[in-house]
Amino acid sequence: MSEACIRIWPELPKATINPNIYGHFAEHLGRCVYEGIWVGPKSEIPNQDGIRVDVIAALKQLRAPVVRWPGGCFADQYHWRDGVKPLKKRPQTTNIWWQQSEPNEFGTDEFMRFCAAVGCEPYICLNVGSGSPREALGWLEYCNFGGDSILSKLRAHNGHPEPYGIKYWGVGNENWGCGGRFTATDYAKEYTRYASYLRAFDPGIEMIACGASPGDYKLPTFVDWNHDFCAEMIHADLIDHLSIHRYFNRGTGATFSDSEYAALFGDLVAMERDIQQADRLLGYFYPDRFVGLIIDEWGLWHPSAVVDNGLEQVSTLRDAVFAAAALNLFNNYAHRVTMTNIAQTINVLQAIAITDGGAMCLTPTYYVYDMMRFHMAAQSLTHELDCPTFDAHPMGLRQKHSVPQLSVSASLARKKILLTVANQTVDADIETRIDLRGAKVLNVLGRVLNSADPRDANTIEAPKTIFPKRLKREQVDGELVHTFPAHSVTSLSISLA
Ligand code: AHR
Repeated sequence: MSEACIRIWPELPKATINPNIYGHFAEHLGRCVYEGIWVGPKSEIPNQDGIRVDVIAALKQLRAPVVRWPGGCFADQYHWRDGVKPLKKRPQTTNIWWQQSEPNEFGTDEFMRFCAAVGCEPYICLNVGSGSPREALGWLEYCNFGGDSILSKLRAHNGHPEPYGIKYWGVGNENWGCGGRFTATDYAKEYTRYASYLRAFDPGIEMIACGASPGDYKLPTFVDWNHDFCAEMIHADLIDHLSIHRYFNRGTGATFSDSEYAALFGDLVAMERDIQQADRLLGYFYPDRFVGLIIDEWGLWHPSAVVDNGLEQVSTLRDAVFAAAALNLFNNYAHRVTMTNIAQTINVLQAIAITDGGAMCLTPTYYVYDMMRFHMAAQSLTHELDCPTFDAHPMGLRQKHSVPQLSVSASLARKKILLTVANQTVDADIETRIDLRGAKVLNVLGRVLNSADPRDANTIEAPKTIFPKRLKREQVDGELVHTFPAHSVTSLSISLA
């Protein structure tokens, strides 16, 4: 048994945790949208206007704040007008990147009905790679224009006379790669062109520029792309957020070795460095305007997830512990991180649910979102962690790093501290003293997500193998001490007097 200490200062809030940190991403890829979300109104699978009711219920339970759509790489070849025609006239097109045909049954209005049913904000990613500012402007007009125009009439004709008022608009996706292979400087010029018209048309929207994703497409380094983009994009009024991506893989989905298990958690050091570097750059280039950092694609991408199987993979307890550690990291950088979107909502990559015909199963990662949802809109708290470490060599970094065995974040809302602890070890239970710097504790409630082996997963046949267990309510008179089991996620709700 190892020992640790977490010190938390309840009176020292760092920043409000933007609820959008707990966001999702759904692309027209494999079975994410078609079958995962959309089955059509005539399906035997229970649906509301064509959208699976089991998926709506699952996302509602999480209070999912935002969903990014329609891609991903698909966004830069998507032509929105194909998806707002009468159903029978919608063309069957091709989805180049994911090598499947696109029926265009799920278009803007279907996406908006999905968001309304879930109660989340929509985030649309525009087509820069094969589109034009005119096409993007038309989409914005279709969605948000309250006056009289052909496009607002078309929206009304399609069932929505009121403007949708969509707030979040991404200007392209991975434009250094599948989004057109721009250089950072050329993309900045293109971004400026798009953003000028979008902003003029609807000053209320928030625009998201495409930043770097480390390690892909022989990019110039992460810092160089973001730096060169910001240096060229001098119109601070045109940018609200910069988005970066990061995917992780160490070993295969369910058969990784213990050393691959540890290496994966070491890789979070690399993501922390991405956030720190982007934080510095945004502060430097836009000193007079707050520009948020969005990580609008992140998660585990196991080698088994390939185009041929629609990027599907097994999602184990290890993936869930990893998700909790990543969300802890985002909570801890809440002063800059304004949104994150785990890839991808249903069936694809680190999905929160998998479907098989009419059946659905929640992955261990789903339960992490359920356990951590109370951080949304809470105040992220200052904390210190003393705990044993392990050595890791994070991807893309030259030096070895020493990584704490525990990952921690704490937040405060309505006199309750929510403490989330991910035990990042394969085999060490860690007895931990939780020091609240003199604050009086009334009681502690909690849930723990754990299983005998971090390789355990939920399946359609055995959907409850991994399920959070409630901890007994504890009255605390003196010191608060808790043992965090190996490869687990624990959320403690600590009521203060
Ligand atoms: O999520 C799968 C793909 O990964 C996305 O389409 C793309 O943006 C990224 O490279």
